[in-house]
Amino acid sequence: MTRPQTLAALQAWLRRGLGEAGVYDPAADARVLLAGLLDLSPTALLTQGDRPVGDEEFARVVDALERRRAREPVHRILGRREFYGLTLALSPETLEPRPDTEILVDRMLPHVQRIAETKGHVRILDLGTGTGAILLALLAECPQATGVGVDAATGALRTAQANAEANGLVARFRVVESDWFSAVHGCFDIIVSNPPYIRTDVVAGLEREVRDFDPALALDGGPDGLEAYRRIATGASSYLEPDGIIGVEIGYDQHQSVSKLFDAEGFRLIEAARDYGGNDRVLVFVAKAS
Ligand SMILES: C[S@@+](CC[C@H](N)C(=O)[O-])C[C@H]1O[C@@H](n2cnc3c(N)ncnc32)[C@H](O)[C@@H]1O
Repeated sequence: MTRPQTLAALQAWLRRGLGEAGVYDPAADARVLLAGLLDLSPTALLTQGDRPVGDEEFARVVDALERRRAREPVHRILGRREFYGLTLALSPETLEPRPDTEILVDRMLPHVQRIAETKGHVRILDLGTGTGAILLALLAECPQATGVGVDAATGALRTAQANAEANGLVARFRVVESDWFSAVHGCFDIIVSNPPYIRTDVVAGLEREVRDFDPALALDGGPDGLEAYRRIATGASSYLEPDGIIGVEIGYDQHQSVSKLFDAEGFRLIEAARDYGGNDRVLVFVAKAS
């Protein structure tokens, strides 16, 4: 094979290889991979077509193409992705944060800011923190906030801690290894969670990018997909300030079932939001007594 000598030729080569491998959007994948692998801005990709490509750079792209052929997602290949303006490292034990989860951040932020203004500070608990995405985004937006990120996966907590350090938020961020609330102490103004919510029998049929690369612990919500919500709804009142707010991400068909679980534990639904595809995605609750 004669290898591509310029950036434009390399991009065309990668796009073709990805297309032959049958990935969903070869042009977009080629752009994101090349920009990430060669540390180039989107503008540089467009304007530096004549830039020569070195052997080592080509080898990096060949390796990435092989991994993408095996259906590894582009951001896993790069080892990082953007979430709410932060760059977050990924690891095998973390879910790759999804753009739809930014909606939970959007919906919780006004509550976080209101409590920060009233009290002078706000304490946030993130259950199933993964990369730390939700909590770190809220901390970045609200300087008076401090938070605890909980996960059952030790490797995820290591990644979350590294992400807090890399984004300058480590002084206000702490991780706790815990099975939901079991090792958590204290009371919080805000609880957030994007728990695993996919039914066990559905997990095996997910697309390979998700099933083979996102950790099972981050996906599998048990036989009815609701196990984590049950645990969170049951424990929440012991860890939430009386006027506190709890916001959760949900699957597209879980609005009714999750609302019912929280209602049975003394919470009132105050807000529901849909994602960019028009599906139910976020529910926000307060204690009925507040
Ligand atoms: C859907 S992922 C969400 C990750 C991250 N919050 C995000 O939105 O990108 C669910 C997370 O819950 C964690 N998890 C699963 N079971 C848990 C448990 N019993 N206790 C605490 N965390 C758990 C997983 O390890 C995973 O990080």
